[in-house]
Amino acid sequence: MTQVATVLGIESSCDDTAAAVVRGVPGNMEVLSSVVFGQADLHSDFGGVVPEIAARAHAERLDVSVAHALEQAGIGLCDIDAIAATCGPGLIGGVVAGVMTAKGLSAATGKPLYGINHLAGHALTPRLSSGVVFPYLMLLVSGGHCQFLIARGPDDFTRLGGTIDDAPGEAFDKVARLIGLGQPGGPAIEKIAQDGEAKRFAFPRPLSNKPGCDLSFSGLKTAVLRARDDIMAEQGGLTVRDQADLAASFQAAVTDSLAGKAKRALEVYLDLAPATPTFCVAGGVAANMTIRTVLETVCANSDVAFDAPPLALCTDNAAMIAAAGIEQMPLRAPDGMDLSARPRMPLDTKSTAMLGSGKKGAKA
Ligand code: KG4
Ligand code: ZN
Repeated sequence: MTQVATVLGIESSCDDTAAAVVRGVPGNMEVLSSVVFGQADLHSDFGGVVPEIAARAHAERLDVSVAHALEQAGIGLCDIDAIAATCGPGLIGGVVAGVMTAKGLSAATGKPLYGINHLAGHALTPRLSSGVVFPYLMLLVSGGHCQFLIARGPDDFTRLGGTIDDAPGEAFDKVARLIGLGQPGGPAIEKIAQDGEAKRFAFPRPLSNKPGCDLSFSGLKTAVLRARDDIMAEQGGLTVRDQADLAASFQAAVTDSLAGKAKRALEVYLDLAPATPTFCVAGGVAANMTIRTVLETVCANSDVAFDAPPLALCTDNAAMIAAAGIEQMPLRAPDGMDLSARPRMPLDTKSTAMLGSGKKGAKA
């Protein structure tokens, strides 16, 4: 029988400095503490995350995050069984800061160190939040990523498709900027879209007529830019109604695209005849209630259970990294002091590279 483990998780791959303590066995875990220091205020003047600022902030805040996580869990470093830290993919300065902190703690305490793929953290979150059993279908949809995965085991993922250009969260953030809303764009667009008319602008649903599960969002973003420019040329600026209608029409296009490809991904997944068919969403964009509701309906129509983790576990956090550590510990040896931080780190190494693939290798 797998032993109960208490794991300290560390996450620093983008603009959230996070530490957490999770205890349990694979598929049955409890979050003892989860501390997240966001950096939105540090980047707000720049219209996006500035890697150097993010890296410095991570380096300054990691120690205190770990101290808070241990204190809130009511334990000391001597009580943990292992340290799990995001080792990629992400902004390299931040990932290095997290990996170095984890190595230092491991060297000082003798506790084993596990480098965790950030995407595996998101993809395994339903195991932490509700003990969903393998194999399940996962839509990982965040600021940097968008992919349909079949999660067959803690380190066994098959990618069915994903975005060929922008991630949806990135599109939400860019569109928010285009129409004069604050960052992060996702929550800002979702809020104002509640008062908008989603049918006012007929934005494209790229790749919807193409077979497969791939998606594209950069053309949609350009379409919003054109619609905005037309309004600006006509009236000299955007009214709140224009902002709301643009936001609602954009959100509807993203939702339709995701729902259309989710149906296809479900067909492939259901061919495996899973015992308890389950479709899970994770990543920051999974916080969007319009998207969640439509995906839930798609699942209900196919008699598939729908699972969306609580919002705090959907956006970047360290509990998902600690949980991935608990899931993977029984399957592999700990990493050594040669564990490296990787800006690119595909989750399914067997599939062809996609988003961000290039000379340095596949990002996702
Ligand atoms: O998973 P996450 O915290 O970070 C990574 O990208 O890994 O996701 C952040 C992204 C941002 O782009 C943000 O705008 C988006 O998730 N997001 C949302 C919502 N809340 C956060 N997008 C749409 N609707 C939301 N309610
Ligand atoms: Zn993430």
